[in-house]
Amino acid sequence: MAPTVVLNNGVKCPQIGLGTWLGNPGEIQKSVKHAIDVGYRHIDCAWLYGNEKEIGEGIKDKIEDGTVKREDLFITTKLWNTFHEKDQVAPACKDSLKNLGLTYIDLYLMHWPVAQKNLGTFDKNLPFKDAVNIDVDYIETWQSMEQCVRLGLVKSIGVSNFNSKQLDRLLSCAKIKPVMNQIEVSPNLNQKKLISFCKDLDIAITAYSPLGSPARPWAKPGDPMLSLDDPQLISIGNKYGKTSAQVILRYVLQLGTIPIPKSINPKRIESNFDIFDFELSPEDLTVLDSFNCNGRAVHAEELKDSKYYPFKDVEF
Ligand code: A2P
Repeated sequence: MAPTVVLNNGVKCPQIGLGTWLGNPGEIQKSVKHAIDVGYRHIDCAWLYGNEKEIGEGIKDKIEDGTVKREDLFITTKLWNTFHEKDQVAPACKDSLKNLGLTYIDLYLMHWPVAQKNLGTFDKNLPFKDAVNIDVDYIETWQSMEQCVRLGLVKSIGVSNFNSKQLDRLLSCAKIKPVMNQIEVSPNLNQKKLISFCKDLDIAITAYSPLGSPARPWAKPGDPMLSLDDPQLISIGNKYGKTSAQVILRYVLQLGTIPIPKSINPKRIESNFDIFDFELSPEDLTVLDSFNCNGRAVHAEELKDSKYYPFKDVEF
């Protein structure tokens, strides 16, 4: 079993989760079942990913066959940007619950601090494309998420893609403190400052795209993302009998975060979980640190014209 992190409300969260973004609905049910068999107890979902239903079916199968009980699992899902207005939040949460076939969600996250309105077609792989940014304050959205806790729909609430200033502002108004900020963390973007800032506030960090999200639909040649074939990574891995991906995931873990690597491949699901029996030395951590170059896989450029866009006008 993976170690757990105790969140600021006393709830325990397993320190590795299965990412599900771009997990094809045709395959993800099988991947979830395999992950649970391997020992994963934390699954990271989002309404946006369009596969909550199949993930829920995988979970149901594993509960029905006796492998796990519901309370053994930590299921996260996220409120999409187009449901930020106050009357939309609880219905969106209920929609995710229905998709997942669950009676409660362990952790509900605000996916972005930016609210949007859809204009016609919706493509989950390019979700910002046919939407406009609208001026709904994330504080208002947060208040409705607090209501989801009071209604018993969710056990814990948190945010994703929030910068330090946005977290500060949220904390000054929140009645329920966020337990988590889910942000991109990888050797290219090690986020040490934001991680330390959140640690001081007792807000845990989930690390998305830890492997640099090599299959992201908007990838361009020349993006500064670290390759799993990097000779330094391979040589560090050889010292511990681990792959480059395991070295990266261990690094992200040693940064003090909860990595959620996505995979639909059974062998990679297994190896991504197998990172708790070694520890990177200070020298190896220094090599990993040297890859840091503010290299984001997820820029969400379409959100840039919003005053709530998180990646500008702020150091971290
Ligand atoms: P696949 O699902 O075919 O395994 P991230 O979590 O950073 O977004 O990265 C996910 C991407 O990395 C997916 O394309 C996934 O492909 C691939 N991936 C996941 N685990 C590994 C691994 N251990 N080695 C190589 N590629 C991996």
